[in-house]
Amino acid sequence: LAQQFDTGQLSGKHVVITAGPTREALDPVRYISNHSSGKMGFALAQAAAEAGARVTLISGPVNLPTPPQCERIDVISADDMLQAAEHATSDCDVFIAAAAVADYRPANIAEQKIKKSGEHITLTLTKNPDIVATIAGQPTPPFCVGFAAETQHLGEHAQCKLQRKRLDMIVANDVSQPGIGFNSDDNAVSVFWPGGKQQLAQASKQQLARQLIQLMAERLSATQP
Ligand code: CTP
Ligand code: CA
Repeated sequence: LAQQFDTGQLSGKHVVITAGPTREALDPVRYISNHSSGKMGFALAQAAAEAGARVTLISGPVNLPTPPQCERIDVISADDMLQAAEHATSDCDVFIAAAAVADYRPANIAEQKIKKSGEHITLTLTKNPDIVATIAGQPTPPFCVGFAAETQHLGEHAQCKLQRKRLDMIVANDVSQPGIGFNSDDNAVSVFWPGGKQQLAQASKQQLARQLIQLMAERLSATQP
C-alpha cells in the first residue's frame, strides 16, 4: 500500500479535519463527553499531509501528538468546534468531520459546582449545532466527508446521513464490533457517496486513512474536474 500511495494527490489543496470528542460543561468541574480517542481523525490528518495537502486539524480534548506538517487548533465544546470549522473552511477544498461531536449540551452551565441533594437529578440538554451539515450547507461548500458510527442498520443509516447532511462522502463503521472503531487501533469501514460504495477491510487506522484519502482525492477530481 505504501508504494501505491501517491503522495502528490492532494498537493495545492487545503484539507480541514475535525477529530476527537467534544466536552460539554455542566458546571466548573464536570462535563458530558464520549470515548472518542481522535485516532482516526489524526491518522487522516497525517495521510492528507503525506498526500501533499495543507492540513488544519481541529481537535477536541485528546491525548495524541500533532502529526507532522499539520496546523492544530484545540477546542473543547461543539460550539467552539463549529466556530473554528467555519473559520478554517473559508478557503478549504475538503472538509472531513471525524469528530464525535456531543449531540446535546447542558441547557445551562452552573456557575458553581452543583451540590449533591435528593435521590434523583434531572438534566435538561439542548441540541448542539451540526457542524458538518452547517459546512455542507454553505453556498459554495468544500467537498464534505462525514463519518457514521452505528450499532445497527449501518448502510441505511449512513446513506440517510449522506443525503440529509448533503455530504459528498460518508465513512460508516459498526461500533458494536469489538476491536474496531471507537477508541481502538483498528477500523473497518464502508464508504458511500452519491451513486457508489466501497468496503475497506479491517486494517490499522493509519492504513485505512491512506485508503480513505486516496478515495476522497479520486471523488474530488471526479466531481470537480
Ligand atoms: N457531526 C457534526 N456535528 C454534530 C454531530 C455530528 O459535525 N453536532 C458529524 C460527525 O462528525 C460525523 C457525522 O456528523 O461526521 C455523523 O455523526 P453521527 O453522530 O453519526 O450522526 P448524527 O447526525 O449525530 O446522528 P445520530 O448520533 O443520531 O446517529
Ligand atoms: Ca451523534
